[in-house]
Amino acid sequence: MEGPDEYHVPVLADEVMHFLRQGPEAGEIMDGTVGGGGHAARILQDIPGSRILAVDRDPDALKEARRSLAPWSGRVRFLQARFDEAAQGAGVMGPSLRGALLDLGVSSRQIDADPRGFSFRSGDAPLDMRMEGAAAGGRTAAEILNQESEAELMRIFREFGEERRAARLAREVVKRRRTEPFERARQLLDALTVVHRRSPEAGEKARVFQALRIAVNNELEALEQALDALRDALLPGGVMVIISYHSLEDRMVKRAFREWSRRCVCPPEIPICICRGEPLGTLLTRSVVRPSKEEVEANPRSRSARLRAWRRGA
Ligand SMILES: C[S@@+](CC[C@H](N)C(=O)[O-])C[C@H]1O[C@@H](n2cnc3c(N)ncnc32)[C@H](O)[C@@H]1O
Repeated sequence: MEGPDEYHVPVLADEVMHFLRQGPEAGEIMDGTVGGGGHAARILQDIPGSRILAVDRDPDALKEARRSLAPWSGRVRFLQARFDEAAQGAGVMGPSLRGALLDLGVSSRQIDADPRGFSFRSGDAPLDMRMEGAAAGGRTAAEILNQESEAELMRIFREFGEERRAARLAREVVKRRRTEPFERARQLLDALTVVHRRSPEAGEKARVFQALRIAVNNELEALEQALDALRDALLPGGVMVIISYHSLEDRMVKRAFREWSRRCVCPPEIPICICRGEPLGTLLTRSVVRPSKEEVEANPRSRSARLRAWRRGA
């Protein structure tokens, strides 16, 4: 039987545990991106008596988490929701969390074996990429490619994919869709090959697919909306740990944690502090935590992971 390790190897798991252990003993830990349950299983194993609110927007991932976390089922509540919704009342009522964990992006299972076209690996896969699946509605990756303006496509490729040839790729997509609407991954790979004038490297393909996935699932908005809500859902002393894989996400987390840890919140033009503000909590990671060389060798997908942690004031 497949366990959490085969589904997705949890990234920076020792570091996640190091920070979550610093939270208070009462309350739940919300794993807002439970995926295959890798981190959640570590928490349940290593923190005796801990209880978890296991959240994922992807119904297939949640099904897998139910299976892999079955040995601890009495200590886990499962919720299919976006983590921002879960933090704002769908799962958490008032400050009740000893910890909150977000491990952003997609799991290895979604990349390797999911028929929704998250990855460039299967050219035949439909360009869907909706994490909630078709039943929840929302635009597919193909619809974005077929309907968005050239300027918007360029923004998506540039901002979310850090693609240097974003303008040329957007132009090529618009040209191609006039004769053959986008449906399958291979069509996007063909457009990318023309733009690069050679077969694109794996990293180049991955970045373009990542850009579309972020746009389809409004991933940056979900994170933006979740940050304050998760902070307010923490008990005094509660710890938030976020692992991001994209520089825009990491920047958002870094800014929020810094802002919440500042003593003075007066606007910069005021020469003397008048707010007498108290920080909302403490930054636990002065600089970002990255996986060790050994972890990257054992699990290359951890390569771009960046972890930050923060603790709410008592
Ligand atoms: C990197 S995987 C998490 C893997 C997990 N930590 C483990 O060790 O098995 C990210 C998961 O987050 C989910 N996800 C991404 N964005 C989400 C959101 N806004 N709300 C809820 N789940 C989300 C994805 O469906 C995916 O299952």
